[in-house]
Amino acid sequence: MQENIIPHSFNVLKEDRIKIKNHKPFLMWFTGLSGSGKSTIANAVEQALHIKGVHTYTLDGDNVRKGINNDLSFSPEDRTENIRRIAEVANLLVDSGLVVLAAFVSPYKKDREMIESTVKDSNFVEIFVDTSLEECERRDVKGLYAKARKGLIKDFTGVNAPYEAPENPDVRIDTTQTSVEEAVEIILNKIESKLDYNTNE
Ligand code: ADX
Repeated sequence: MQENIIPHSFNVLKEDRIKIKNHKPFLMWFTGLSGSGKSTIANAVEQALHIKGVHTYTLDGDNVRKGINNDLSFSPEDRTENIRRIAEVANLLVDSGLVVLAAFVSPYKKDREMIESTVKDSNFVEIFVDTSLEECERRDVKGLYAKARKGLIKDFTGVNAPYEAPENPDVRIDTTQTSVEEAVEIILNKIESKLDYNTNE
């Protein structure tokens, strides 16, 4: 089937889109346990970027799984498909010129490597929200850890499904040591050069 698909060349290029946005696009990928603080930090980073005039978009596990990925479970195969689709969507959004923030548990190393190869290494910033299982379980904001411990949720990351922590993330945030404001500052410092403002000067 693929052999009969011939991509069309469009005249407005990624470079052209970048020029009118005044900054470079890339993907910030937040990984960590459920309840680790990924979405909270991504939200605060997006707000800070928005104030600076950066064009952003956030993809978040709980939202995406209610829409485009509402056919997927939490089995290892479905999580891989979840991440594959999100990586492709993120790639399109990066191509459109946006700074994309994606917050997904993404527990498997090979799936995270796939994202990096989909969007290309230079467009990818991996942020490990490294909050311990004990702390996530203590917070249990959504009550899901309690349910998982009672055996009401199968394949729950950290309880009865694995989380493979990144060995070499670009940024690591321990939310028991670092406030949301500090996390935003650390991340903004890390990505400042990637934004490369005024690319059209
Ligand atoms: S991922 O593993 O495929 O990347 P994703 O980030 O999309 O997961 O979704 C995780 C969110 O779904 C969690 O924040 C939690 O609210 C909810 N959830 C429901 N069931 C599970 C489960 N079995 N394991 C992990 N998270 C779950």
